[in-house]
Amino acid sequence: MNPSRREFLGSGLAAAAWLTLPGARAASALTRRRSGFGAAVAWADLHADPDLAEAVKTYCTQIVPVYELKWGPLRPTRDAFAFGPADALVDFAERNEMKMRGHNLVWYYGLPDWTREIASPAEAERELTRHIETVVSHYRGRLASWDVVNEPIPDNPKSSRDRRETLWTHFLGESYAGIAFRAAAAADPNARLVVNEYDVEFADPTSQMKRAALRRFALDLLDSGAPLHAIGMQCHLRGDRPIDRDGVTRFVAEMRDEGLDVYVTELDVQDQYLPAPAAERDAIVAQRVQDVLSAISAPAPIGTLLTWGLSDRYSWISQMFPRPDHTPNRPLPLDAGFQPKPFMAAIEKFTRPLA
Ligand code: G3I
Repeated sequence: MNPSRREFLGSGLAAAAWLTLPGARAASALTRRRSGFGAAVAWADLHADPDLAEAVKTYCTQIVPVYELKWGPLRPTRDAFAFGPADALVDFAERNEMKMRGHNLVWYYGLPDWTREIASPAEAERELTRHIETVVSHYRGRLASWDVVNEPIPDNPKSSRDRRETLWTHFLGESYAGIAFRAAAAADPNARLVVNEYDVEFADPTSQMKRAALRRFALDLLDSGAPLHAIGMQCHLRGDRPIDRDGVTRFVAEMRDEGLDVYVTELDVQDQYLPAPAAERDAIVAQRVQDVLSAISAPAPIGTLLTWGLSDRYSWISQMFPRPDHTPNRPLPLDAGFQPKPFMAAIEKFTRPLA
């Protein structure tokens, strides 16, 4: 008698079964993929849900770990590096002809408790450099890019020179960023190195100032000779917040003129204040996606475009921004049954099928 799905998954056979794709399915999966398109995944979800794994193989040319490469899970103690889950993700990517992004090497959030013991600039630089050298070297040649510095700008900057206060700025000032980018470049000269930020896409003054501060952060890094290669625009959109189409296009054009690439790194749409009917809500969500992707791609095509999750079944938005009417959120390209929505059609307008 065939094992039930639950018995099959529990047996660990699932982990073996879907890691190797028969040639025929690999080919069919590749036909739905769009050049440069990918999604964030958590190993726990990918390992437990073959439907998610199948959807990722069908649509994605790359993945990025939601969680597994962050300091919290990666560094349980000062001397430990827990690479297992991230190794499993990069193995999955390579077995299924995908790339993987690294996220992230320096962030204000989620530092493990032991980092509170850091007590001097010299110790801060030593631990930051050791982390980056060890982690980036571990994946040398296997990751296409790294979010080296994640979210360096505060949420409500008063000027373009405002920077988010973190453990690293406390001890190292603004020099932490150059230290991080140089350490990453030394550990993997082929990885594209990115500064990644959110809420720089909107038409309101706060977002415009945040975008100006990100611009200043990037130009200062370039002026210092740091190996910055790309801007990551996270694009965590809001259904009820207009995109600053002209402002975003001007920003992207300037960054490209400075020799930087521009990635869409965490695209999704918070829909908690949108109308309940799915068709109406999906259309508004897709329009927001269309607005931001047309603004970003106006200077040049988008070469790297990831959503923060692939299916509504797995989105941080459902936990963080649930709808007042308690209907399920619909923030991603595929619905909870892994069927494409107008969001995916909008992505297809700005990406091309794999040759
Ligand atoms: O998987 C573990 C589970 O084993 C454990 O029992 C549980 C205990 O709390 O934690 C689980 O991990 C959670 C993880 O998400 C699961 O993927 C962590 O608690 C939780 O803190 C973590 O939250 C993530 C958050 O970043 C902090 O790392 C969100 O899922 C993730 O969507 C969010 O992503 C960020 C980007 O990195 C940066 N840009 C903004 C974006 C949204 O906030």
